[in-house]
Amino acid sequence: MTTNLGIDNAMYGAVALNDTTRAAVATTTLSPRFYTTDFAAMDAMSVEPVRAEWDALIAELASDLNRKHFTRDKGLGWDLDIEGLSPALRAEFLDFLVSSLTAEFSGCVLYAEMKKRGKNPDLQALFKYMSRDEARHAGFINDCLRDFGVQVDMGFLVKAKKYTYFSPKFILYATYLSEKIGYARYITIFRHLEAHPERRFHPIFKWFEEWCNDEYRHGEALALLMRADPGLLSGLNLLWVRFFQVAVFSTMFLRDHRRPEMHAALGLEPEAYGMAVFRITSEISKQVFPLLVDVEAPAFLEGLRAMQRLDVELTAARAGGGAANWARARLIQARMAKAFVSLLLLPAKKNPLPASTRLAPSW
Ligand SMILES: [Fe+2]
Ligand SMILES: [Fe+2]
Repeated sequence: MTTNLGIDNAMYGAVALNDTTRAAVATTTLSPRFYTTDFAAMDAMSVEPVRAEWDALIAELASDLNRKHFTRDKGLGWDLDIEGLSPALRAEFLDFLVSSLTAEFSGCVLYAEMKKRGKNPDLQALFKYMSRDEARHAGFINDCLRDFGVQVDMGFLVKAKKYTYFSPKFILYATYLSEKIGYARYITIFRHLEAHPERRFHPIFKWFEEWCNDEYRHGEALALLMRADPGLLSGLNLLWVRFFQVAVFSTMFLRDHRRPEMHAALGLEPEAYGMAVFRITSEISKQVFPLLVDVEAPAFLEGLRAMQRLDVELTAARAGGGAANWARARLIQARMAKAFVSLLLLPAKKNPLPASTRLAPSW
């Protein structure tokens, strides 16, 4: 069976792909990306300034708390009624699974590559454990997709996906935020479904609690790497710190608004859900970022809403086809870029960094 996931398709030579793999290969502004970096520069980083916290974290990763978590028969119950899902919900949920799998797998590939190319034993240990976890996460999602009769060919994905080059510091800002926002997203959904179990339309959500603790730990390691090199968190780099917060928050806001059926089924309103996730992420970020986007400022939400309204117009223009709509889409994209810059220019909050970096996940 193949599904139409509503993502731009592309042909990749003579290779026959199922639609799901093709959807995972398509690179759009909003879809999860694959990254590559300057591996030698990454390997040269030193964790000496944060040695004690680092060693404790590596010991935690080595103890492999979630070794037995990612299997269906772990006693949480796999109660799935696929026929009970409306076609619209099923399509959006599949899109969610594929995009989550791509993000997990993209982390797995990047971390495995860092492990393979590096010689620094501290970093090699970290990236070994992180790629182990992401491989498990991606594999578990792929296993869920099998129930729907679809599968993503991850081996193919590694070869066909376009890789975006990011300098090591950008990798740190971006992966730190994506690990922490990943934690915040999963824990928010998990807590919501604890209170409203009747809304849990798929068993995978029961796995989110331990799952997001993996992401939380990964984020802790990236925070320590940044704290070990204060140059990454001062001067002009603060502009980047700010840029990545706005980019990660606005991307999530737009992407989630494109899945109204899934959020309605969960009983979550995308805007309120987004804001709850941004508050948690921002609170956690106090461990590492000396400058925080003010997520409580009314202008922040206004700016996100403006981008989201433009995103709806953009989708309509793209769907319309023809030269006039193409020109319209370009114009809308320019307005979106302007709205994004306005978000970047909002006053940010100074945050004095705590003496110790590590923070317990208490949400
Ligand atoms: Fe993950
Ligand atoms: Fe992760």
